[in-house]
Amino acid sequence: MPARTNYGIDFDKQSISDTDVRGKKILLRCDFNIPLDRDTGAVTDDGRIIAALPTIRYLLDQGAAVIACSHLGRPGGVLSPEFSLKVVGERLTELLGKPVKISRDAIGEDSRRLAASLQPGEIMLLENLRFYPGEELNDPEFARALAALADVFVEDAFGSVHRAHASIEGVSHFLPAVAGFLLEQELRHIGGALENPKPPFIAILGGSKVSDKIGVIDNLLDKADTLIIGGGMAYTFLKARDGSIGSSLCENDRLQYARDMLVKAQRLGVRLLLPVDSLVAQRPDNSLNPDVVNSYNIPDDMMALDIGPKAANEFVSVIKDAGTVIWNGPMGIFELPKYSNGTRMVAIAMTDPHIVSIVGGGDSAAAIRQFGLEGRVTHVSTGGGATLEFLEGRELPGVACLLDKPGRAEV
Ligand code: 3PG
Repeated sequence: MPARTNYGIDFDKQSISDTDVRGKKILLRCDFNIPLDRDTGAVTDDGRIIAALPTIRYLLDQGAAVIACSHLGRPGGVLSPEFSLKVVGERLTELLGKPVKISRDAIGEDSRRLAASLQPGEIMLLENLRFYPGEELNDPEFARALAALADVFVEDAFGSVHRAHASIEGVSHFLPAVAGFLLEQELRHIGGALENPKPPFIAILGGSKVSDKIGVIDNLLDKADTLIIGGGMAYTFLKARDGSIGSSLCENDRLQYARDMLVKAQRLGVRLLLPVDSLVAQRPDNSLNPDVVNSYNIPDDMMALDIGPKAANEFVSVIKDAGTVIWNGPMGIFELPKYSNGTRMVAIAMTDPHIVSIVGGGDSAAAIRQFGLEGRVTHVSTGGGATLEFLEGRELPGVACLLDKPGRAEV
């Protein structure tokens, strides 16, 4: 039986394996919102395109005709050539080894003509959905026009399921809506870790801002055995414990929240670890020679840029004894080699084959890739904001709208 969550998210959703897609036209929502080179416009990271391939290949092999769609960037409802999905279509063509027909619009004459003539086993890609204001407004007329191109809707854009947009939620009112393999895999790995973790369950949070992770800290404190906080956000917690943090990042308006979370951890018996030492310098500059200092005693003119060696060793030893680890957010400015050690040590510890290791997207996923460790953890999420909202325990509109199991979709 598929796991059921008590966070208001229902995993018990139909997927493409429950659905007869043969000979059908499939509207496939992907998250092809990928980084492009600022100067040349070339694709700089095709991870999200690669992650969509299993679903696309399966649908094509099953004899479906695939109408893929996505947003790219935030063009604000206006046609903007620099956000065209053409470059994504070209990369998808290379990766699939078969032509992807690229339409000049998403709901206009060109897409209707191409979709109408699309044959089983063929694929096309609509132009950027966010060239239309109706996408982000979840306009029913825009959703209806998209749905009119296809017989079945397949949701595979995990990175966007937190958005109640027309191509994510709206189309489910007009077409039978089921999950693709990427969405299923993300829900199974992250949801499984939250719902039924192999103990002990360790959560590691980093990154610069407490305010980005408030809901995540709150939710994970109810589930984790140990919560490790590193990165820039740790210094708000250290100040809340009356530490002197020099010129390190601090959100003074979150100090009370940090105090409340320290009290909550104590009340629940959750071990909350902050870095005992830190790597500090006057500014984030790779040419400076950083010092190692006690995190509660950082000189006034110094800022913490990475966790120190004692903290890294302590975090690693906790990870080594874990059953399940969820990690979201780097331990320091890992893009600069001198401040990458803490993040690298955590990343390497995550590769222990005895651990169920989940890397929660965004910067930590970038770090895992930078260190060449991507294939050595259990799961690297393709989500950024979506992963955070999932970890917060919030309902994801792009999941909630899908058809429930059991039984085959009536399509
Ligand atoms: C992401 O990259 O997080 C998703 O594609 C969502 O993009 P958005 O934040 O612009 O909605």
